[in-house]
Amino acid sequence: MTDQGIEALGLRQSPEGGALIIDGKLVSQSVLADVAEKAAVLTARGMRPGLAVVLVGEDPASQVYVKSKGKAAESCGFHSIQHTLPVETPQADLVALVEALNRDPAIHGILVQLPLPRHIDATKVLETISPAKDVDGFHPVNAGLLAIGDIERALVPCTPAGSMILLQRAAKALKIDLAGRDAVVVGRSNIVGKPMAQLLLAQNCTVTLAHSRTHDLPAVVGRAEILVAAVGRPEMVLGEWVRPGALVIDVGINRVPGTGLDAQGRPKTRLVGDVAFAEAAKRAAAITPVPGGVGPMTIAMLMSNTLSAATRIAG
Ligand code: GUN
Repeated sequence: MTDQGIEALGLRQSPEGGALIIDGKLVSQSVLADVAEKAAVLTARGMRPGLAVVLVGEDPASQVYVKSKGKAAESCGFHSIQHTLPVETPQADLVALVEALNRDPAIHGILVQLPLPRHIDATKVLETISPAKDVDGFHPVNAGLLAIGDIERALVPCTPAGSMILLQRAAKALKIDLAGRDAVVVGRSNIVGKPMAQLLLAQNCTVTLAHSRTHDLPAVVGRAEILVAAVGRPEMVLGEWVRPGALVIDVGINRVPGTGLDAQGRPKTRLVGDVAFAEAAKRAAAITPVPGGVGPMTIAMLMSNTLSAATRIAG
């Protein structure tokens, strides 16, 4: 494929040679532009997509995430509302709010930001969200639809859905057919690892779901033609484990000490993934960077899920 063809898919050659870099920021922009275009069509038909984000408490990281979700919703032309509740909100009040949003015809997507305060049973709250409005894809009905391979009807969790798009772009650029390939997912969370394994299975990959109890993880990773790392441990997957020619999707976003001090005199930090990027990029055929890989795709897929939910509710 020509360099222009590769760039049109959101990939670029790295200056040092080696792997193609999968640019999640670029791909997320194309997803968001597509969502905005389709949202405008729905809005013109009197069905403006609506997203409600619920934040309980004042966790600073959650405040940042929720703000960027609201901004993205507005940039897509959605009706966007945020409910911010005090940290001591009783569970019953939160459940009552979710039930009211379930009934609200202007709202097609409901997201309750996690983590919730400890006195609230997150599973109970997430199960209160109507599966049709569950744009996080965390409700057991959506997890079940994904598990039986009914991807058309499921709302799929945003991070694995975004990872899959990046993987498909890389496979297309490299003219690789995913079917029959050995895929290894490291990490078995309900939010990333398990749904990612289901999505890869739906693409006919031969899927291994590795985790903290897996024996000889380097050997398991070394078999992967497609590697997805989602463990939340900085640079745990070493470059030398990576199979030459592999497609590598790094879901991890870990803050680690950097060098020197920032403008306020505090020690600098930097973000790294779950994969030791520089060494892995020498062996992989394509790899996502951190930051700028999977991260930007998560919010883009939240908008895509909200659009899907609105489209289905509109019939
Ligand atoms: N907190 C961190 N990531 C997420 C997410 O994807 N969804 C929700 N609801 N909360 C989160």
